[in-house]
Amino acid sequence: MPAGKPETARSREIIIVAIATADAETIAVAARALEAGRLVAFPTETVYGLGGDATQGRAVAAIFAAKGRPRFNPLIVHVADPAAAERIAVLGPLARRLAGAFWPGPLTLVLERRADSMLSDLVTAGLETVAVRVPAHPIAQALLAACGRPLAAPSANRSGHVSATQAAHVAADLGDAVEMILDGGPTAFGLESTVIDARGDKVVLLRPGAVTAEEIEVVLGAAILRAGDAGDRPQSPGQLASHYAPRAAVRLDVTEVRPGEALLAFGPDVPATDGAVVNLSPSGDLHEAAANLFASLRSLDATGAPTIAVMPIPEHGLGEAINDRLKRAATDRP
Ligand code: TXA
Ligand code: MG
Repeated sequence: MPAGKPETARSREIIIVAIATADAETIAVAARALEAGRLVAFPTETVYGLGGDATQGRAVAAIFAAKGRPRFNPLIVHVADPAAAERIAVLGPLARRLAGAFWPGPLTLVLERRADSMLSDLVTAGLETVAVRVPAHPIAQALLAACGRPLAAPSANRSGHVSATQAAHVAADLGDAVEMILDGGPTAFGLESTVIDARGDKVVLLRPGAVTAEEIEVVLGAAILRAGDAGDRPQSPGQLASHYAPRAAVRLDVTEVRPGEALLAFGPDVPATDGAVVNLSPSGDLHEAAANLFASLRSLDATGAPTIAVMPIPEHGLGEAINDRLKRAATDRP
């Protein structure tokens, strides 16, 4: 038998058993694994998260190792409800208002970390702030309830790669680095949560995401600041220039497709091409486009085309977050 064969067979087997349909029984098993300091991937309404107990340094270190993520990039801490958020972070009046409007849901608040939070210092990369989110997905909620502790959960992909919106994507990226993948089907939004700094009396958008800037502005009754406008406000350490990247090169704002390129289309008027085409939304709907974005990048990447050409996407609403991800996918990698 060739030397490599048993290894391949074994890793296939592990990937198959690691994916479990989420139900009361598998969620209870997952909660026990988390309590023991092991890692479980689970669906949220945005993307799949790679979860570990945020109070156990060993579990948090395992998350960084599984993703190949630099340790200066802090993780989002997921909790069941605003009361649990108050136990790890300080919510001022503005943060409470946003939490009231958007939690549970895809908004992450960067807040002052409480001294008695019990969180591992690794979660926050040594910062005095912590990013907190209350997910709306029923499986994420059930898991948080079953384990009764805050869960650190970055997107369940290799660092720098496209985020995982299906259980199979998690398995492809992280394989046997996770104890278990709770399968809840494809995620609804398909884009990560919006991250805002909500410590002061003004909020700063650190990462555009599933809640639009316009929706936040309606609640605030004021314009939201962008990280660049905010003077000495810290940027989000995770907003690296190259991120969310497929293997193929990415070319943006394309109106004419070049020979050999695969096309990521948007809307009804698609340029002619002999190559592979995936349309994010034939009707030009930004919600549909966001939900399809990462799976479409993965499937065009799998065609082996050296370049993915991307049609222009409008910049309003969810378009801001879609274009943010596409720009990072198009940036030259180190
Ligand atoms: O939708 C989501 O947010 C998903 C799901 C699983 O909840 N999670 C996610 O986590 O996208 P992650 O780790 O891939 O992205 C977290 C982002 C990074 O850009 C990170 O730098 C930023 O939040 N962040 C975390 N803690 C921060 C802090 N204390 N200050 C500023 N930015 C922070
Ligand atoms: Mg991520």
